[in-house]
Amino acid sequence: MTASIKTHRLDGKNVSLVFACDRDMVDLIYFGPALPQHENLEALAAISYWGPHENQPDGVPRGGLLPQAKNGYSGRPAVLLCQGMSAIDADFQLVDVTCTMDRMAATWNDCVSKLQVSAIWESHANDIFDCHYRFTNEGSQEIVLERTPSLVLPLPSHFTTMTSFPGRWAREMQATPHQLGANAIEMRSSAGKPGFDAGNWLIFRSITDSSVIGCHLVWNGDHTAYVAQDNDGRATALVESILDRKAAILPPGCNIRSATSIVSFAPHEDQLSDNFHQFARNEILPLRSQWGPRKVHLNSWEALGFKLSQASLIDLADEAAALGVERFVLDDGWFKGRRNDRAGLGDWVVDPDLFPEGLGPLIDHVRMKGMDFGLWIEPEMVSPNSELYRAHPDWCIHDHSDHRPTERNQLVLDLSRGDVMEYLVTTITDLLASNDIAYLKWDHNRRLFPAGTAQTEGYIELLKAVTSAHPGVEIENCSSGGGRVDLRSLAMAHRVWPSDNNDPIERLRINRSWTRFLPLEILGNHVGPSPNPITGRRAEIDFRAKVAMFGHMGVEANPADMDAEEQAVLAQHIALYKIWRDTLHSGRLWNLTHDDGGIYGQIIVSDEGAIAFAAQTGFTENFNVSLVRLKGLEADAYYQVTLPRPWPTKASRYLADPKLWENGLVLSGIALMQKGLPLPLTHPETAWIITLERKTGL
Ligand code: GLA
Repeated sequence: MTASIKTHRLDGKNVSLVFACDRDMVDLIYFGPALPQHENLEALAAISYWGPHENQPDGVPRGGLLPQAKNGYSGRPAVLLCQGMSAIDADFQLVDVTCTMDRMAATWNDCVSKLQVSAIWESHANDIFDCHYRFTNEGSQEIVLERTPSLVLPLPSHFTTMTSFPGRWAREMQATPHQLGANAIEMRSSAGKPGFDAGNWLIFRSITDSSVIGCHLVWNGDHTAYVAQDNDGRATALVESILDRKAAILPPGCNIRSATSIVSFAPHEDQLSDNFHQFARNEILPLRSQWGPRKVHLNSWEALGFKLSQASLIDLADEAAALGVERFVLDDGWFKGRRNDRAGLGDWVVDPDLFPEGLGPLIDHVRMKGMDFGLWIEPEMVSPNSELYRAHPDWCIHDHSDHRPTERNQLVLDLSRGDVMEYLVTTITDLLASNDIAYLKWDHNRRLFPAGTAQTEGYIELLKAVTSAHPGVEIENCSSGGGRVDLRSLAMAHRVWPSDNNDPIERLRINRSWTRFLPLEILGNHVGPSPNPITGRRAEIDFRAKVAMFGHMGVEANPADMDAEEQAVLAQHIALYKIWRDTLHSGRLWNLTHDDGGIYGQIIVSDEGAIAFAAQTGFTENFNVSLVRLKGLEADAYYQVTLPRPWPTKASRYLADPKLWENGLVLSGIALMQKGLPLPLTHPETAWIITLERKTGL
């Protein structure tokens, strides 16, 4: 069989992919570290397969990039079609494979329906590859695409486990391990947004070494991911965006492009994260290179909730400025009729009862204090108790009955309607034109039911219209926290709100998951109140502030509720963040591993130095934990290592020579990585910041 196999390769910087075409199948036969330029790909194909065994068809069926239900293949077909009321028994035949340095396109024709399908893979910098499918109806009858794959990934056989990231409100992205086997694992989001359900961020792991493959579905709507081994133990991952019936109809002569997926291979997980981070920085985030420093926020939500008044906000702004805050964000509650979460969405007019002269005086005060101003908005929603709903009861998504089920007391505006889009674009752009607003926190606090592809696309259109009219305004994607995090929406935004949960213990775990894929500068990370309004847990300000520094830092508590010492500790952390944010937001992130499962740590390394934290969430077995070993440093460079103040009060008693740590001591990268630092991390809710300035001339 090998004689008929044709091979093609795509190369990244440190990674190669090799595709093999045999009859109607295009398989991915290599996805791993870069192969030498002269690798014999035919020989590679020859070592990719076994001969037939007793219990399988003689022409061994394989899935490849377009698994089909033919020739005895038992896995899940990538494409399902119907015409009229009948399902089609498609028979795709490979008609073309074209490969250039950075692109491979394979095309099949179905001789039954006349559907043409192409799988297209492209390579990007940073060892990221993207994949999508294109469907063209070459026949004379309408075709319905019941399944629209974005990625079909035949996994190398040593990838036997997977981590998915399901979650829920306030507990997003719970890293969940799975053993791959014959029983399929299926993850599905049907919230009309990426949601909390997993499947759009996945990591596959090798059993024989530390190598990993990560993938993300670049799509802001419903999706599924399905992973299973076939009869012979070969696992394939199928990731697809779900289109509704209307969007899945392909008239004769028309084509549809699936959502894109991105995939990357790396020898270890920190490298995989770096591939994703650099890709986001260089190719996704709008004009990332022109962003200024990520300003410290103060957000009114957990400080004042709905208890807003111009006077209380002005006081809050004064407190914020005194701490060193640089952006004041007015959250929910500022618009007409919005005294609680049961009314007002849709009426995006400043409430005259709260702000008799509009937002102007507050914004002027905020600006006068040297901060810029941000505003919360939830444009796609409408409260049944609102003027908008009373005027246009049909503007919301609803089925044919009068039953309009709400979530958080709200309905969803139908973005497939031209009048709704026009209302929203005009309302938001007018709001931005008539107020000095630097930032919008764009929220989306319910699932969509019924959901639809038009809604998924409408959100992107709305974002496009707003950002092109006001390109200088920064946007945060928020959806009850991390319910709408995807690189498609991020292409028009500047940050995400990873979770409503500001409890530092929970945030350490949530942020650990997000940072596997996203860089720190886009992860909003706030100091919340104590006790935390969601978990009820109390935490010292020192711990809350240290955790919040590793992201896009902000404050969501009311400084007036803190005593003078707490305020001073918070202000010192804000000052430290400002000194180190260039490194935090451009450096390379490594996760510190420790034998104590309660300890979390990260280090971010740039050319000039590094900043790290180590945080204890549990209570240790031995009083002195193992030394915290750093990562990512240059082995033979020297670093001035300091534990910058403020220190955790109790833990600092256990430093052997406090002066030494305060002034700093010089050690080589190899000593810091191999031996590590003796940090007092015995008690829960203790964290240390470690700064490392690279020494020159040593
Ligand atoms: C959502 C957001 C919060 C806050 C509230 C306001 O829950 O995630 O941060 O803005 O809405 O209603």
